[in-house]
Amino acid sequence: MAACLQLNTKTFRPVVLPNSVPKFSAAKASRIRCSAASPSKRYSITLLPGDGIGPEVISVAKNVLTLAASLEGIEFTFQEMPMGGAALDLTGVPLPDETLFAAKQSDAVLLGAIGGYKWDANEKHLKPETGLLKIREGLKVFANLRPATVLPQLVDASTLKKEVAEGVDVMVVRELTGGIYFGKPRGFGKDENGAEIGFNTEVYAKYEIDRIARVAFETARKRRGKICSVDKANVLEASMFWRKCIVEISSEYPDVEISHMYVDNAAMQLVRNPKQFDTIVTNNIFGDILSDEASMITGSIGMLPSASLGESGPGLFEPIHGSAPDIAGQDKANPLATVLSAAMLLKYGLGEESAAKRIEAAVLDTLNKGFRTGDIYSSGTKLVGCKEMGEEVLKSVESQVPAAV
Ligand SMILES: NC(=O)c1ccc[n+]([C@@H]2O[C@H](COP(=O)([O-])OP(=O)(O)OC[C@H]3O[C@@H](n4cnc5c(N)ncnc54)[C@H](O)[C@@H]3O)[C@@H](O)[C@H]2O)c1
Repeated sequence: MAACLQLNTKTFRPVVLPNSVPKFSAAKASRIRCSAASPSKRYSITLLPGDGIGPEVISVAKNVLTLAASLEGIEFTFQEMPMGGAALDLTGVPLPDETLFAAKQSDAVLLGAIGGYKWDANEKHLKPETGLLKIREGLKVFANLRPATVLPQLVDASTLKKEVAEGVDVMVVRELTGGIYFGKPRGFGKDENGAEIGFNTEVYAKYEIDRIARVAFETARKRRGKICSVDKANVLEASMFWRKCIVEISSEYPDVEISHMYVDNAAMQLVRNPKQFDTIVTNNIFGDILSDEASMITGSIGMLPSASLGESGPGLFEPIHGSAPDIAGQDKANPLATVLSAAMLLKYGLGEESAAKRIEAAVLDTLNKGFRTGDIYSSGTKLVGCKEMGEEVLKSVESQVPAAV
């Protein structure tokens, strides 16, 4: 599908990449390709490497995705498109029309990270971050799923006490395209006394709450069947309405246990006793803050994936970290958040659970063998760079039994 794109080649030429098995072990890899010689399924993936460490982690994730999927008889066509600062330098805008068009035409989108010092002083509409908001809006991905799982191998990386952190497995479902980040009126002005003000509007329509609630209930159903809706219904009308809608939708899911919590209490409970949570559903701004808090329980931002889904069309899959300009180009980035985002792409974006499990198992296997990038390193483990970590994950994928295709 993506290969048929009509692109404005005056501005840039996209890189269309055929499915290729990673280079590190050509002989073994070709054996794997033989075992899945006639792919039963084909998908097109738009890759948005972005800035900073983005291209480094995307390169690793692409190889892992390709190999794991090939073991399940799946073949990809990749198309690499510019976004963020890279797109600004190339085309003058952070999200070129061609990039959004390619993303919309594909089956799923895998994003690295955007942003960097170079563009920090740009006007708002010319910041890399504006491209991020625009692609979420353009793909209509209203549901952001952010798992925060404390892996047994990394429990010591948590800032919380071991007994509090171990076993934590929370999924934060954040509403992504509504609420105060998009609500109108917004802006700057003067109040009735002539004092300067800045203002935003928290506003939600019923359909926006209903659809995020359904995603969250469905997610909870596939997990431990518990959902906690977080709001500020003791103060905010928008939250009172949020709670009313969530209660209504909960009647469609009698098998899921529902509770409600004010956001200030939720922030406290996440560090006091995070194991009480299974699935959290909340609005855009509370979800932004709580998902960052939940992620820190796990110890490293370099381990955490995310999925952003809409009602139809391709989902957007990305690590939660930024472009890490402080370590960019030094082969120090942890690629596992992007690798695990690729697993979410398979699971939530394409419904290819078996291939997703291969990636998740390979990541655990690699950690079990003691390989660590700098952000998750502890004494007694083996410090590796981004590329080597990727190669180790590939070896773990490769050692798995190919599926019968
Ligand atoms: N979704 C996105 O693309 C996204 C998200 C957040 C921030 N940003 C942008 O990224 C730039 C840097 O922002 P920041 O410094 O606040 O956040 P950041 O996530 O880029 O970095 C925070 C810290 O975590 C480290 N880190 C991040 N990812 C890592 C990884 N995979 N492996 C090892 N260490 C990692 C960094 O080195 C840094 O010390 C800014 O321009 C910001 O706007 C982009």
